[in-house]
Amino acid sequence: MLASDSLSSLKGKVAVLTGASRGIGKAIADALVKHGAYVVIGDILVAEGEQLVADYNANAGSKVAAFIRTDVTKYSDNQALFKLADAEFGGVDYALLNAGIGSNANSMFTEMDDELEERMIDINTTAVIKGTKVALLHMAKRGGGSIVHLASVAGFFSSPSLASYNASKHGVIGYTRSFQLMPRICNVRVNAICPYWVETDLISSVKQTGKEDDPYYNIIKNSPRTKVKTVVDGFLTLILDEARNTQTLMALPEGLEIMEPLVPLASFGNEKTAQLQEEYLKNAVQTAKAQLAAAMERYFLAKI
Ligand SMILES: NC(=O)c1ccc[n+]([C@@H]2O[C@H](COP(=O)([O-])OP(=O)(O)OC[C@H]3O[C@@H](n4cnc5c(N)ncnc54)[C@H](O)[C@@H]3O)[C@@H](O)[C@H]2O)c1
Repeated sequence: MLASDSLSSLKGKVAVLTGASRGIGKAIADALVKHGAYVVIGDILVAEGEQLVADYNANAGSKVAAFIRTDVTKYSDNQALFKLADAEFGGVDYALLNAGIGSNANSMFTEMDDELEERMIDINTTAVIKGTKVALLHMAKRGGGSIVHLASVAGFFSSPSLASYNASKHGVIGYTRSFQLMPRICNVRVNAICPYWVETDLISSVKQTGKEDDPYYNIIKNSPRTKVKTVVDGFLTLILDEARNTQTLMALPEGLEIMEPLVPLASFGNEKTAQLQEEYLKNAVQTAKAQLAAAMERYFLAKI
């Protein structure tokens, strides 16, 4: 249960959400707006997204939300989405990189179709990398922020019929856990929420493999569900608790639970690498700050 005084700190904050025209993203947008935050939504589902934002604004009696058609696989669309948040509400405090698909999850023996095969990784994994890179620059300009990746328990466990989906979400987990130094570089925290099955349209999209129904779908259909409220609580916990960074928080039917990373093996290092690691850490933050400054200059001062 989140304390109401910490929820009150959401008032006036600005959140960018991808894939929030419906499903989990929409539920998180609902909660943010309820607690007084501004939301900027990017999705390929235009009619649903525009209607949602119109409803938020009508209920609030003022502009609290904006929508822009966004295909998260495109850098240009990610940039337009975050720039809209700057233009409409003065900056970005939070980002939820949530857009994702489940179709063609089990592609082991389907047609060898380049475009179809790449779609899963492009949307579920590479787009999270693209969105994060854009978000970091906007948050660095703001003086800090918090990014949440919508991963999955499929980022840790691998059921047989979801091979490509599992690969896409394992990729997100590896990416999320790579941001150990980011709070010291630009005061941005990066975490992931990792739900078990939640009753949304995505579930029926994993039903078919090629043209046939996948036999594993019968198990999925009958599996327990995570309440969407648990996912929302997990997201709010990650953005509000400033102690959390690179955390992978599972949203399970029984509630929230942290999945700890594996501990590196003793054979991965020696005395020399331990010393080099110390030296690396001394310089890494300064080096990254310089790289960030150059990236910000390229991005914000770019002539169009
Ligand atoms: N539902 C579950 O059981 C479950 C479990 C674990 C993780 N997840 C993850 O949660 C996230 C949200 O899924 P959901 O369950 O709400 O499903 P959903 O299908 O209801 O929502 C997904 C949203 O992403 C959008 N989207 C898809 N491709 C896009 C693109 N290229 N650009 C922009 N938007 C795009 C869709 O239009 C849709 O609004 C996904 O990343 C999914 O993998 C879902």
